[in-house]
Amino acid sequence: MKKTILVTGGAGYIGSVAVKMLIAQGHKVVVVDNLSKGLQKLVGKKAKLYKADLTSQDQLEKAFKDNKIDAVMHFAGYKAVEESMQNPAKYSLNITGTINLLNLMAKYGVKKIIYSSSAAVYGEPKYNPIDESHPTEPMNYYGFTKLESERIMEWYSKLHGISYVALRYFNVAGDGGLSYVDPDAKNILPIIMEVVFGKRETLVIMGKDYPTRDGTCIRDYIDVNDLIDAHILALRLEKSAIINLGTSNGVSVKELVDATTNVIGKPIKVEYGPRRPGDPAELCASNDRAKKLLGWAPKKTVKDMISSAYKAYKKSF
Ligand SMILES: NC(=O)c1ccc[n+]([C@@H]2O[C@H](COP(=O)([O-])OP(=O)(O)OC[C@H]3O[C@@H](n4cnc5c(N)ncnc54)[C@H](O)[C@@H]3O)[C@@H](O)[C@H]2O)c1
Repeated sequence: MKKTILVTGGAGYIGSVAVKMLIAQGHKVVVVDNLSKGLQKLVGKKAKLYKADLTSQDQLEKAFKDNKIDAVMHFAGYKAVEESMQNPAKYSLNITGTINLLNLMAKYGVKKIIYSSSAAVYGEPKYNPIDESHPTEPMNYYGFTKLESERIMEWYSKLHGISYVALRYFNVAGDGGLSYVDPDAKNILPIIMEVVFGKRETLVIMGKDYPTRDGTCIRDYIDVNDLIDAHILALRLEKSAIINLGTSNGVSVKELVDATTNVIGKPIKVEYGPRRPGDPAELCASNDRAKKLLGWAPKKTVKDMISSAYKAYKKSF
């Protein structure tokens, strides 16, 4: 059935792909974004954009008043781990925004929310691959805001019958067909692309003495298109759930650099620096629950993610 979906953060990297895919499937899309990082052009002309901040209940309410919303996909938020430790007040707004959104959902009778959570809720892994029963002990304030938002959603599900699906993303990468270039690159693949296109001199790999196969950190990269497929499947889930989204295939930083070299056909300038405090050696998702509850499986490889990001950056450099 075609629905009206409110997409918060729909002008950002991941949210804009959701907007595009929902529209392609015939849904009506309403976007709320304060454009603090998002770009209006990513929303496209077919979605209705409200430039509004989630921390202002009044600004946000307009989107609910004007449209009969069936479900919410909640991507809006600040996401830089290091900044969250230096400026917790800013990151507390992630929680305020979620509460405002839930209050309006309760007021307007909207019963379904899909939430962008993060592997950062787990903290230092006690084992890999990490399943959803792994202890949640965030090591940074960003991760705490994600976990707190999950807990608040759980309460609102009890108090207001709002069902929620918290999707805990691992490392999202690749381009979703909108030629996205990160205006403030903090994730590894956009940083590699900045080195490839000369915006940065070198890639500094932080630590080469981790207890991994080549000494560099291992992460689980998930393609943004696969990620949004899971969100769309989650719209149909009839109960609340917390679900990891990752591929279960760990890739080291060095392997990522080597794979990029192979895709683009030229070497990438690399330097080694000290470890970054708080970086675990390995983070890898168990995706059994996503497979079971959503009938989802990732389709794209790391090579696909690198190729699509490379094409996107090539267009604008
Ligand atoms: N990118 C990843 O690897 C990753 C991993 C785990 C979780 N996440 C989560 O996924 C979500 C989307 O991430 P992204 O990579 O697209 O980030 P992004 O910064 O590109 O997009 C976030 C969007 O939210 C908007 N926004 C922020 N605060 C807002 C507010 N108070 N009111 C209205 N709009 C606001 C920004 O303008 C931006 O368009 C975030 O919640 C992030 O924490 C991302």
